[in-house]
Amino acid sequence: MVRRLEGKVAIITGGGSGFGAGIAAKFTQEGTKVIITDLSQDNGTKIAQSLGCDFLRADVTKREDWEAVLEHAIDTFGRLDIVVNNAGATYSNKPTETVKDDEFDMCFHVNVRSLYLSSSVLLPYFLENDRPGCFIQIASTAGLRPRPGLTWYNASKAAVSNATKTMAVEYAPNKIRFNAVCPVVGSTGMTHLFLGKPDTEENRKAWVSTIPMGRGSTPKDVANACCYLASEEAEFITGVNLEVDGGRCV
Ligand SMILES: NC(=O)c1ccc[n+]([C@@H]2O[C@H](COP(=O)([O-])OP(=O)(O)OC[C@H]3O[C@@H](n4cnc5c(N)ncnc54)[C@H](O)[C@@H]3O)[C@@H](O)[C@H]2O)c1
Repeated sequence: MVRRLEGKVAIITGGGSGFGAGIAAKFTQEGTKVIITDLSQDNGTKIAQSLGCDFLRADVTKREDWEAVLEHAIDTFGRLDIVVNNAGATYSNKPTETVKDDEFDMCFHVNVRSLYLSSSVLLPYFLENDRPGCFIQIASTAGLRPRPGLTWYNASKAAVSNATKTMAVEYAPNKIRFNAVCPVVGSTGMTHLFLGKPDTEENRKAWVSTIPMGRGSTPKDVANACCYLASEEAEFITGVNLEVDGGRCV
């Protein structure tokens, strides 16, 4: 069987949990050498061991950590092809006037500064070596069709979508592609924060009722979309926000 990402090298941030772990599993199956990064040493190590891939503890908001991850990719595999900016953060759903400074800062640091740093540290590698590259950001339907109570999370994801489009047109002549995948609510480590209450089937009902296909997104749904965007089949696709949302944004 031909594997769709054979011989590629990928960094997947936040790969210790949820969608990131699903993307790492799919990419590994499809022949990619994967480097998972995460804040959580325990989760990252566990997932990496189960998949037989590499793990580096790295904070996406720190320049020196991005530099260490790039160095690891080059020293270990001699190249880098794909970057999945998946790590994300939010505060718990609440009235916007009650959001605290540190909660606002967290959304923009983890969700947006991470993209700034990944482009600042990694783009020179692709440009100086005249290599094609593929950046995939995990944005959200929250940035396209927001729900109440998550204003600054939603706004940070809209920034992710916008930055993705800008970089797509800026680096298209260099064959460096930038795309975003926009999942609808799923059941991961962050879901209780989106709901503002425990992640149970009962509590998810109201959100899921607004999804025409009648269920939330899964790590497999998100991983399949990322695999397509990372593959040669998507060589002419750049600047898209691919909604993986069962029709929620229609
Ligand atoms: N779960 C949903 O309903 C949903 C919907 C749309 C988009 N998303 C987005 O999907 C992405 C993945 O989230 P998830 O739902 O799998 O949640 P998750 O909590 O299961 O996984 C997020 C991972 O990111 C890591 N992380 C957080 N801050 C980090 C940092 N500063 N540096 C490195 N790693 C860090 C966490 O340790 C965790 O392992 C996020 O960008 C999220 O905004 C989630």
